[in-house]
Amino acid sequence: MLYIGVDLGTSAVKLILMEADGTIKNVVSKEYPLYFPKPGWSEQKPEDWWEGVTEGIKELTKDFDKNKVAGISFGGQMHGLVILDQDDQVIRPAILWNDGRTGKETNYLNEVIGKDKLSAYTANIAFAGFTAPKLLWVKANEPELFEKINKIMLPKDYIAYKLSGVHCTDYSDASGMLLMDVKNKCWSKEMLAICGVTQEQMPKLYESYDVVGTLKPEVANELGLSTQCKVVAGAGDNAAAAVGTGTVGDGRCNISLGTSGTIFISSKEFGVDENNALHAFAHADGSYHLMGCMLSAASCNKWWMDGIIGTKDYQNEQAQITKLGGSQVYFLPYLMGERSPHNNPDARGTFIGMTMDTTRADMTQAVLEGVAFAIRDSLEVAKSLGIKIERTKICGGGAKSPLWKKIIANVLNLKVDVIESEEGPALGSAMLAAVANKEYTSVEEAAEKIVKVVDTIEPTNELVQKYEEKYNKFKQIYPTVKGLFDIIKE
Ligand code: XUL
Repeated sequence: MLYIGVDLGTSAVKLILMEADGTIKNVVSKEYPLYFPKPGWSEQKPEDWWEGVTEGIKELTKDFDKNKVAGISFGGQMHGLVILDQDDQVIRPAILWNDGRTGKETNYLNEVIGKDKLSAYTANIAFAGFTAPKLLWVKANEPELFEKINKIMLPKDYIAYKLSGVHCTDYSDASGMLLMDVKNKCWSKEMLAICGVTQEQMPKLYESYDVVGTLKPEVANELGLSTQCKVVAGAGDNAAAAVGTGTVGDGRCNISLGTSGTIFISSKEFGVDENNALHAFAHADGSYHLMGCMLSAASCNKWWMDGIIGTKDYQNEQAQITKLGGSQVYFLPYLMGERSPHNNPDARGTFIGMTMDTTRADMTQAVLEGVAFAIRDSLEVAKSLGIKIERTKICGGGAKSPLWKKIIANVLNLKVDVIESEEGPALGSAMLAAVANKEYTSVEEAAEKIVKVVDTIEPTNELVQKYEEKYNKFKQIYPTVKGLFDIIKE
């Protein structure tokens, strides 16, 4: 049998076609626009996602026996607010995970409702990108649209809804709404009341590997797939990526260098970071995880390469770097504000330390190192909780760069295991579909059988020492310039 994994990302949707044994038969990607209507705002049109997914599925399956496609599942960009009216029409563009407009609502939740209460209700505090503050923002700023809300969902759930007609979500993705009691895996009545919404407006909750339904006949017909094809709940993209890199079970780690940068630590037991700097979310394997998320990772590199210095040849540009750990230029990668651990939507990108002999290569290097240092900030929080990590998997577009992987290994002083397939969330979601169709008894079994490590990047003492010194300087820059971000704010 064949399974489709849909990675509904921020720059594009990536789809893979996988055989039950994990062999990847085909990969297709479709881009769609991302809108920044105001500085720090970030939106997409759910209709564009749907078009990308349907066109993508047709292209993906065109040379294969479509009747063999037994299941479709998803790894979706998390936290985005999608709202539909009573005719199932999208009410406004989705407000995405890296949107920073909700500073006021986030402060209200954290300061007036209070972090202790939020943490007791949901296991997390409010961050600007989470879904609950977005609902409060729509309520305050677009009350006529808020009144129209009939269904609330996350980005990938819109696709599942269009495919199956079932209003569903899964525990891993729902964890990032700040509306779910993560420990007990149910909607928090208190949080729904605080946001002025009801349980009827919320999707039904499933495990990531649960079947939610089958394709609607008209959709099956349009896609040329069987009406028996199962639609499987899927996961937030980080949990799906963790499945796709075998980061399941206890104490395993995955780093994703996508538009966002995340460090994901799987755990069999529910646990909360008492400072709430790391998110405490459900995992797609039925258990839990802790995660730190920086808002701009590979997107900083893309911004620098494509937007500022104007090149598409990332490899050649990175080949000019000769001073790993030895340059005095630093970059704060906060182009969209920052989530973990600073929780500051007003933070901004910053270069510091340039002199007359600073080169373009030094600046490129500072961008790659700045992202690695920012991920280390979250690793330090995990370490402070007593979590011991020696190695990590890695995935996402940024993981294609051997140099960046080397920087990550040495800045974080971790062994970095490289997986045969880089298709993290897409592979993980195809695996979830296979588990749902009983090809495997559990997500853990699927990961054991499918995921293969093909290389390991070992940190070296010399570079680890150099980066230790640089990190100790880097971590002083944000607290020093933080106040300036309030001053320069519009
Ligand atoms: C995680 C997060 C991002 C998005 C990116 O909390 O906001 O990693 O899921 O798609």
